[in-house]
Amino acid sequence: MANKNLTNAKRAKNDEFYTQFGDIQKEIEAYLEYNPKVFRGKVVYCNCDDPYESNFFRYFVLNFKKLGLKQLITTSYKPSPVANTQLLLFGNDESLPKTKGRPKVTANKFIINKVHDIDGDGEFNLKDIAKQLKANKHNEWAPLEEDGDFRSDECIELLKQSDIVVTNPPFSLFREYLKPLLSKIS
Ligand SMILES: C[S@@+](CC[C@H](N)C(=O)[O-])C[C@H]1O[C@@H](n2cnc3c(N)ncnc32)[C@H](O)[C@@H]1O
Repeated sequence: MANKNLTNAKRAKNDEFYTQFGDIQKEIEAYLEYNPKVFRGKVVYCNCDDPYESNFFRYFVLNFKKLGLKQLITTSYKPSPVANTQLLLFGNDESLPKTKGRPKVTANKFIINKVHDIDGDGEFNLKDIAKQLKANKHNEWAPLEEDGDFRSDECIELLKQSDIVVTNPPFSLFREYLKPLLSKIS
């Protein structure tokens, strides 16, 4: 977790404080300066991050190759009041039928193993990722059985599979949030 960003979020005292892309970039670059291979071959898990709204997902997926990630896992939280609303991951996809109001909200897991310019437009971006996720080829998008709580059995199982956890968690649950992380390293 990025210390400076955490401090900003804590000051905001808001469980729905969303981290800016530029702040994530600056923080990760500081880690890379210290060790350029810090993420190489690693499984990164963002466990409070709905790809529709999280810049952590956006940052790691867009820099997947540059960082040399093995896998990126993110899970969303069903009760989030802004679930499925912010980045609109699938929003530019003309092939999706238009629905009235907010898209149906479920807690989901997203597993990225491979990224490339799938539509061949010469640019790799979130549209490519949305297409790969929809095709469920190499990358996986599936509903969770529970609500995506970081303490749920499903999320703890994903935590066990990961090497690095990066997110900005809900501050009201900060102590609760640390428990599974501390038991992972002990
Ligand atoms: C401070 S926001 C940060 C969101 C995102 N990580 C970011 O930095 O932009 C905390 C997020 O955790 C979600 N959340 C709240 N309680 C949670 C829980 N028990 N398990 C998993 N996620 C939770 C909230 O809905 C919100 O999306």
